[in-house]
Amino acid sequence: MIKLKNVYKSFKNTTVLQDINLEIKEGEAVVLSGVSGSGKSTLLSIIGAIMKPSSGLVEVNGENIVSLSDFHLSEYRTSAIGFVTQSFHLFEMLSVKENVITPLILNKLTQKEMLHKRDEAMIKAEILHKSNQVVSTLSGGEKQRCMIARALVNNPKIILCDEPTANLDKQNSLKFIKIVKQLKESGKTIVIATHDPLISELELVDKIIKIDEGKIE
Ligand SMILES: Nc1ncnc2c1ncn2[C@@H]1O[C@H](COP(=O)(O)OP(=O)(O)OP(=O)(O)O)[C@@H](O)[C@H]1O
Ligand SMILES: [Mg+2]
Repeated sequence: MIKLKNVYKSFKNTTVLQDINLEIKEGEAVVLSGVSGSGKSTLLSIIGAIMKPSSGLVEVNGENIVSLSDFHLSEYRTSAIGFVTQSFHLFEMLSVKENVITPLILNKLTQKEMLHKRDEAMIKAEILHKSNQVVSTLSGGEKQRCMIARALVNNPKIILCDEPTANLDKQNSLKFIKIVKQLKESGKTIVIATHDPLISELELVDKIIKIDEGKIE
């Protein structure tokens, strides 16, 4: 499903990723681990097509996403990938349900279909009970679940999470883990960059990829 071959990424003179080769199969849950600055977020951004590698191949479903046109790239980002990051980029003044529906607005769906997808995503992310609440008044854990709902609304096959539990207390981390378990059971491919042993020690994790100074150990 996801295959990286000889991927390099440099910013000016610094090489951040070096000769990354990895394969993640459909339905797998994979943890990216490594110290701060090792290149985890950069790797996730490359898989999510937020960033292009300096060289190398990034194949998703047999297609090299590095060579996609801008139009197809944005389509790939919105339909194939659900990104859960620490900087939420939610519309703070809008309600949960308004935030969750935004990725669907440019799709050619009927209103009924949109509302159905929105509600399904809020159910999966366990935030339906807050659907009318304005985001600025949510707790940190609730904001994160709002973002998860928004990431799921297009039913992407791949979910990328960058340090998803870094700012959560134990109870919210466990809620997040419960959601991840359900996503895995529904066949999603999941890549999580994390230092959190609560996640890396989960039984559902198929493999842990260790990154050290931009290289896979
Ligand atoms: N846009 C950029 N310009 C220059 N350097 C960058 C840029 N983005 C990332 N880097 C550098 O690349 C390296 C890897 O960064 P990255 O964010 O991928 O690390 P990380 O493993 O996610 O770290 P953390 O655990 O702290 O989130 C760092 O040294 C960082 O300073
Ligand atoms: Mg990071």
